[in-house]
Amino acid sequence: MHCWNDFEAIRRPDVPLSGLTWYKLGGPARSLFEPRDENELAGVIRRCNDAGANWRVLGGGANLLVRDGGVDDVVIRLTGPVFQSTRRENGTIEAGAGVDMLELVKQASLEGWEGFESLAGIPGTVGGCIRMNAGGRFGSIAPLVKDVTLVTRAGAVVVRDASELNFSYRKAELGGGIVVSARFHARPADADETHRRYLEIWRDKYRTQPPLKARSSGCVFKNPRDASAGRLIDEAGLKGTRRGGAEISTIHANFIVAHNGARAADVMELIDLARERVWALNGIEMELEVEVW
Ligand code: FAD
Ligand code: EPU
Repeated sequence: MHCWNDFEAIRRPDVPLSGLTWYKLGGPARSLFEPRDENELAGVIRRCNDAGANWRVLGGGANLLVRDGGVDDVVIRLTGPVFQSTRRENGTIEAGAGVDMLELVKQASLEGWEGFESLAGIPGTVGGCIRMNAGGRFGSIAPLVKDVTLVTRAGAVVVRDASELNFSYRKAELGGGIVVSARFHARPADADETHRRYLEIWRDKYRTQPPLKARSSGCVFKNPRDASAGRLIDEAGLKGTRRGGAEISTIHANFIVAHNGARAADVMELIDLARERVWALNGIEMELEVEVW
């Protein structure tokens, strides 16, 4: 049992995580912390380190599958006003880690800041999207990032230039740190054009993928080198396959959607099935993109 007495104002026990993820599945966090600023966050990290408690950070929960049994590790969420604010300054747009990317991208595209439109329709927070280097066929978040402010694993607040994050496919190297804010390049362009592109990319995405209101985590697997996970699962004949309340999407086979009554275990069964079938048919090992907690 850990002692969290100093953190009563920002700690809640047994918080259901189902309401905090796009899958709306899974059990509770035994301890959820919502620090109000970066110094309080750093304090939580240092206390966890002293107590030998593991911790995880929850963004928008758009790339997570929480198991039905819930999470014993400390879960941290950046919901306070300082983590939700955005600011334009000296050729940059600064945004807190908790800012909703769907909103930021829409706003920036309407105002004519180039590059944001490539991320149209991708849910999550600024922190989660940087961690995952969110993106797709039209581009990723990496070239937009100027620098990030992180709380390190040791509980120190540092600024890292984008070049230090070694962005790669669905990955940024944060050294285990937590993004508290980021500065993006604000490159002016014709607002009509960025907004037109934004709408075009949004339409293209949701012409080929399940809609945002379907419960999913986006693509379950990363694309293997020179292959498409969606096509491999489709060619394995698995579209529409169900386990309990979960289903391999009939629209895009790399999405597993949750229906009423689904459990996280149902999604896990389909993940295992897809992986085994593709391995048996093609000898290709598919790596998870969704993070399982
Ligand atoms: P979470 O799911 O909460 O967390 C993901 C990871 O980021 C975890 O490891 C978490 O610990 C870490 N993390 C979260 N916040 C921070 C922080 N502040 N500091 C450090 N680490 C942090 N992704 C794409 O790339 N392209 C797509 O086209 C796409 N389409 C999607 C469509 C749908 C309908 C859905 C539901 C998801 C889609 N995704 C897509 C996946 C998801 O949008 C991205 O992975 C997004 O970056 C997740 O952000 P999040 O804030 O929800 O992170
Ligand atoms: N395909 C099929 N069957 C399917 C799905 C796809 O045959 O069920 C085929 C398509 O016809 C296409 C190819 O596979 O020829 C690739 O499909 P798509 O263009 O839909 O792209 P993707 O590689 O499946 C990637 C990202 C998406 C991103 C889109 C668009 C990954 C794993 N996926 O999808 O990102 O939205 O490009 O930019 O990199 C995510 O990461 O969560 C995600 C949704």
